[in-house]
Order: sequence, then structure tokens, then C-alpha cells
Amino acid sequence: MTFTTNSVTVIGSGFMGNQIALHCAAHGKSVWMHDTQEEAIRHSAEETMPGFLDRMIADGSAASDDRQSILDRVRRTTDLRSAVSDSVLVIEAVREDLDAKRELFGELDRLCPAETILATNSSSIRASRIESATARPERVLNTHFVQPIWRHPFVELMRGHATSDATLQAVRAFMASIQVIPVVVRKESTGFIFNRMWRALKKEALRVVDQGIAGVEDVDRTWMIQMETPMGPLGLMDIIGLDVVRDIELVYHEESGDPSDLPPKILLDKIARGHLGEKTGQGFYSYPNPAWKEPEFLKPASP
Ligand SMILES: NC(=O)c1ccc[n+]([C@@H]2O[C@H](COP(=O)([O-])OP(=O)(O)OC[C@H]3O[C@@H](n4cnc5c(N)ncnc54)[C@H](O)[C@@H]3O)[C@@H](O)[C@H]2O)c1
Repeated sequence: MTFTTNSVTVIGSGFMGNQIALHCAAHGKSVWMHDTQEEAIRHSAEETMPGFLDRMIADGSAASDDRQSILDRVRRTTDLRSAVSDSVLVIEAVREDLDAKRELFGELDRLCPAETILATNSSSIRASRIESATARPERVLNTHFVQPIWRHPFVELMRGHATSDATLQAVRAFMASIQVIPVVVRKESTGFIFNRMWRALKKEALRVVDQGIAGVEDVDRTWMIQMETPMGPLGLMDIIGLDVVRDIELVYHEESGDPSDLPPKILLDKIARGHLGEKTGQGFYSYPNPAWKEPEFLKPASP
């Protein structure tokens, strides 16, 4: 089995699945994408993936001459069996729900060839909580990408209880073949490396707003100016998706039992109103032109 393999399957045709599939296609892989929802498949083909690719091209991460050939390398289906029957590596990027992921991994175990490696892009669920849904725990691991992948081409690799050295090495080789830097998490840790740090910032930014200490824009301004970043924590949560943020916080809470880890009211209220961030046009900011992207955002207001 070689992991300079030319093919990969991505399950879940949402925000991250599209980026993972696109990045693989942009580095010459043929990609199968699967989603249970016809609408997600259609949206991926017509809007999400071409949109991400145009951003990659604008950023100089892909050549405009290659645009069509990159898109042509991605095939899509709602039939899971067709997507995985020849697959060597499957990367799962469905919603952040343990039961949903376990059910899917059980299904993948039945449908994939025996040697297929099954990876999850979960932000907060360890492979060790999913692996027992399969009969191949030595071939299950976390591969955690961050968005936008073409600008942040690194991935956190984390073993479950039984992930073999061969699996880890094979996935490292695959990541190198798509120009993604693998970072190995040595001990299982909810949140890997980056998200452990991001979690502290996210939780505190939400609490500062929830407790009425400061407004959304001032929280982001403070961070952006001090850290010289192009966006603040609340703007970033809008891009990630507020429902995704909530689901991740619930996983941390389930693990810790600490009431302060529960998603705060301000987040739940937004979600209840259908304000999920950039993807719905409204979150902490309004899209497509959120205030934090305006040049005036970091300038002193005129008196
Ligand atoms: N959003 C982020 O910035 C980010 C970053 C890193 C990792 N992640 C992780 O990636 C995963 C996906 O997150 P997302 O933001 O792309 O979610 P999303 O909601 O944008 O997309 C999920 C997609 O999965 C599909 N789906 C749900 N159940 C399915 C199933 N059983 N089989 C096939 N398709 C199914 C949905 O129809 C949807 O299209 C989550 O585990 C999340 O924690 C997210």
C-alpha cells in the first residue's frame, strides 16, 4: 500500500469537507466526495468548491489555468458505497456529533477494503471514542485540518488507543504529498494543540460579551490591534459557524462537567434565531461585508 496514493475519499460536503477535497484535488489527487444530502452535493459543485478555488487562485495557491482540471478531479455522490469501495484513505468531515460519527465509521468499516485508513477531521472528538465502532482500530486516527487550508497548510495527527505506526507514517506521507505539514500530537488530548489554546480565547471572548463587559466589535478590535491579526475571535467564530462552535463547546463540557464550559446564552440565542455566522449571512456580524473587514474598523471614529 502506498500513500503517495492518487486518490482519497472525503465524507461530508460542508465547510471543511470541501476545503479538504479541494486541497487534495489541487495537489493532483482524484477525490470522491460523499454527503447524505443532495443539496450539499449540489452546493459543493456549484458554489462552495468553485468559490474556495477562486480564493485559492486569488491568494496564489493555485493557478487559474488549472482551475477546470482541479474541479474535474472531484466526483460526488450520495451513495456511500461508490465513494469508498476503492478507497485507500477516507477523511470524515461530517457534523460534530459522536453518535453520528460512530454510526458512520461502523458503516465505513463494512464498506471499505480491509486496508483502508479511516481518519476523522473532528475538532473535539478523539479517535479513541470512535475506533470501537470499527473492527480496524489500528487504522483509525484524527487528522485535524484548519481553515482555510490553502493558507494554513498544516494538520494535527493524533492516534487513538490502537493506531499503528504504519498508519501514522502512511498518513504523514499522504499529507506531505499534498503539501500539508503534519504535526503529531503525542498524547491524546481533546482539542489537539491549537484548539486547546483557541478554546481558552473563544470561551473568554464569548463570556466577556455574554457578561456585558464589552461589545462584539470592541472585543475583536482589542484582539486584532494587540495581536496584529486580520480578524478577532468573534469574527472567526462567525466563519467557523456558530452551531459548530456550540457543538464543540458541548463536547468539552461533556468531558469536564464544568458548568462554565457550557456554551453561553449569547451564542445559543444567535443559533436559535438561525444566525449561524457567515454561512447564513448573519452571526455576530452581517455578511458578506462584516464590519471587521472594513478598513475603518481599526481606525479611530471621527468625533
Ligand atoms: N468549521 C471549522 O472551522 C472546522 C475546523 C476544523 C475541523 N472541523 C470539524 O470538521 C467537521 C465538519 O465540520 P464543518 O464545519 O465542515 O460542518 P458542516 O456542517 O459545514 O458540514 C457537514 C456536512 O456533513 C454532512 N453530513 C452529516 N452527516 C453525514 C453523514 N452521516 N454522512 C455524510 N455526510 C453527512 C452534512 O450534510 C454537511 O454537508 C466537524 O467534525 C468539525 O468539528 C471544523
